[in-house]
Amino acid sequence: MLQIDRLVRSFGGVRATDGVSMSVDAGELRALIGPNGAGKSTLFSLVTGHLQPDEGTIIFDGRRIERLRPAARARLGVAIAFQSVHLFQGMTALENVMVGAHSWTHHEFVEAALRLPRHFREEARIRERARAALAGTGLERWAGTRAESLPLGKQRALQIARALCGNPKLLLLDEPAAGLRGEERGELADLLVDLHRQGLTMLLVEHDIGFVCDVADRVTVLDMGRVIAEGPPEQVREDEVVVAAYLGSATADDAVGSH
Ligand SMILES: Nc1ncnc2c1ncn2[C@@H]1O[C@H](COP(=O)(O)OP(=O)(O)O)[C@@H](O)[C@H]1O
Ligand SMILES: [Mg+2]
Repeated sequence: MLQIDRLVRSFGGVRATDGVSMSVDAGELRALIGPNGAGKSTLFSLVTGHLQPDEGTIIFDGRRIERLRPAARARLGVAIAFQSVHLFQGMTALENVMVGAHSWTHHEFVEAALRLPRHFREEARIRERARAALAGTGLERWAGTRAESLPLGKQRALQIARALCGNPKLLLLDEPAAGLRGEERGELADLLVDLHRQGLTMLLVEHDIGFVCDVADRVTVLDMGRVIAEGPPEQVREDEVVVAAYLGSATADDAVGSH
C-alpha cells in the first residue's frame, strides 16, 4: 500500500531523513519508532505532504505521491490523526467529525458555503457518516458532548473518528498515546487493534516502545535519519542496536521496558 524509497530530507546541514526506505502492506499496523531527533516527524510529514523530499519516492496505492499536496493525498485515501491538530472547542463530538468530512470532500464544503440546495441532502449524508465513524470508535454516546469536555483518551478517539469519516485507505497516527496513561492508554490500544481487525492499514509514529509492542504487527526503528532495525515488536525490542539507540537518548529510561 505504501512504498517509501530512499527518502532524503535535509534541514541546513542535518539530514533529518537520510535515505529511508520502508514499505507498509495493506491491512498492516506498522509502527515507526526511534529516539528524539531520529527523523520520525520528518518522515511522517513527508508521507502526509506537509514536507517535500530532496530525493526519493513515495508510492501509495500504485501512485507516486511525493510531490502531491496534502489535500491531494487525502483524496487518494491518506488520512491523518495528529495529536497536534486541535479539536474544535465549543463544537460537539459529532460536529467535529462532520467538519472532518467537510474538509475531506472539498466540493461538498464549497457547496455548503454557497448554500446550494444540494447542501441539505449532503449534510444529512455527512451526518450519517459521522455517526458511523463515532460508532466505530466507541464514541456513540458522546456524540452530543462538546469536544473540550471529553476526557483526553476520548478526545484522541475523536481525532481518529474524524480521520475515519472520509473512509481512508491508510491512517497515519502521530504519537496518539502521548500524555495518556493507564486505562486511557489501554483503551486507545484496544481501539487501534479493533480498527486493525477491521482491515484498516495504519502507520503509527510513536516514541513509546511499550505501547507499540502491544499493537503493531511490525516495527521500523529510525535513528539519525536511518532505518536501524525492522521486524516484529518482540524481535526489535531485544535488538542490541535498538536498545543502544534508545539508551543514548535523554528519555531512554521511560521508553525501553516501560511495559
Ligand atoms: N523544520 C526543521 N528545521 C530544522 N531542523 C529540523 C526541522 N525539523 C526537524 N529538524 C531536525 O531534523 C532532525 C530530525 O527531527 P524530527 O524529524 O523532528 O525527529 P523526531 O520526530 O524523531 O524526534 C533533528 O535533528 C531536528 O533538529
Ligand atoms: Mg517528532
